[in-house]
Amino acid sequence: MSNTEQSGQKSAVAKPEPAKGKLGVMVVGLGAVATTMIAGVEAVRRGLAKPIGSLTQMGTIRLGKRTDHTSPLLKEFVPLADLNDVVFTGWDIFEDNVYESAAHAKVLDKEIIEQLKPYLQSIKPLPAVFDQYYVKRLHGTHVKTGKNKRDLAEQVRADIQAFKKTVDRVVMIWCGSTEIFLEPSAVHQSVEAFEKGLEANDPGIAPSQIYAYAALTEGVPFANGAPNLTVDVPAMIELSKRNSAPICGKDFKTGQTFMKTVLAPAFKARLLGVSGWYSTNILGNRDGEVLDDPESFKTKEESKLGSLEYIFQPELYPDLYRNIFHKVRINYYPPRGDNKEGWDNIDIFGWLGYPMQIKVDFLCRDSILAAPIALDLVLFLDLAKRTPSLKSIGIQEWLSFYLKSPQTREGLYPEHDLFIQSMKLKNTLRHIMGADLITHLGLEYYD
Ligand SMILES: NC(=O)c1ccc[n+]([C@@H]2O[C@H](COP(=O)([O-])OP(=O)(O)OC[C@H]3O[C@@H](n4cnc5c(N)ncnc54)[C@H](O)[C@@H]3O)[C@@H](O)[C@H]2O)c1
Repeated sequence: MSNTEQSGQKSAVAKPEPAKGKLGVMVVGLGAVATTMIAGVEAVRRGLAKPIGSLTQMGTIRLGKRTDHTSPLLKEFVPLADLNDVVFTGWDIFEDNVYESAAHAKVLDKEIIEQLKPYLQSIKPLPAVFDQYYVKRLHGTHVKTGKNKRDLAEQVRADIQAFKKTVDRVVMIWCGSTEIFLEPSAVHQSVEAFEKGLEANDPGIAPSQIYAYAALTEGVPFANGAPNLTVDVPAMIELSKRNSAPICGKDFKTGQTFMKTVLAPAFKARLLGVSGWYSTNILGNRDGEVLDDPESFKTKEESKLGSLEYIFQPELYPDLYRNIFHKVRINYYPPRGDNKEGWDNIDIFGWLGYPMQIKVDFLCRDSILAAPIALDLVLFLDLAKRTPSLKSIGIQEWLSFYLKSPQTREGLYPEHDLFIQSMKLKNTLRHIMGADLITHLGLEYYD
């Protein structure tokens, strides 16, 4: 097996435990993305629609040589929770149930929402942990009160404990609004400092971190669909490892960044230079309204800007990528609702420095792209929690595939290239199931 397309590295790891019983999914923020995911899962369960865009539901994974023709469905290869065993609950700062919120979001057609009405109406949000200081454009009414942040965290823990009694396993996902930009501070450096900060109402602790703290303390994996700081701090990584509650980075990689992390690796692979990349968006949903606030936009901007710098590696290719002018804009434009339009103007240059241009105009549907990502993250985090070699490592870098801001161990640069991320994800699944990794070498076919 020296010249092989496979690595020959068969893993001697303990395989994941089976997905027995009900998986409870606690969603923070029952807005456009969350309701599109929940209604979508129910529509799929009833055979009304297909789970398009979801790797866990439709993806396949090649095993062995190309000549083996063995490519099972991913969900048949790894023990994922079945959609029929998924149970949703969540929190929101508004009292609307999932039917009302989905109708308000106007992502899905009235026809499909009406067909699912009784089910969607049955999911009513729990009162949220909210503070307008962290999301300026929202005025929450359905919120918890407590004597300090610690008290609020205890209330979220009580919500989790109550839900745990009705299901077998729990995962939490943040589908809430983008909070203001926060930098890690002293309060985030250890669990001890964080707990003191909760008592003292430290302003460095945002509501998303109160939920995350509650989840990780309860041993519940946590995914973050927004670019908020949340678990990207040492205290949360420590809690995640200590309580075997996996975490995985932040901000769903849906539209423009998804395109960027496809195109940029192509330019780099062909050694084409880039002098400028101008990205702008118009968006009219509540997310767009929140991002119209400069402090929330700053959080999103940081997350969106990161990918190119890492993909292009200007320190390795100074002639090609040292002087890129990279700009990202988001403009709130109500007439478009959830149907975002994202434009990219890319100034590239080729042989002898001759300039060329590429224009991308992506007329996308934000929540239609995000919903399958949210679902996959939930199902894969649940798998990680049942996998002996993954559950206590904290950050699940193999889930970077889904995120604008992948999380990595300190000192390790993140992989943003979608195809590296995809390979990493699938090889992780092969690894935990004891199958050969695939390297794409393939010389053995020519022996
Ligand atoms: N749709 C996409 O393509 C996409 C991509 C990447 C990231 N995101 C992020 O996902 C998040 C959700 O997007 P959306 O379009 O569903 O937004 P949305 O405004 O429709 O939904 C967010 C919901 O969160 C609620 N909320 C805010 N703060 C809360 C808190 N502290 N506790 C509980 N609920 C709270 C809001 O009331 C609202 O119902 C946003 O942060 C967005 O930036 C979305």
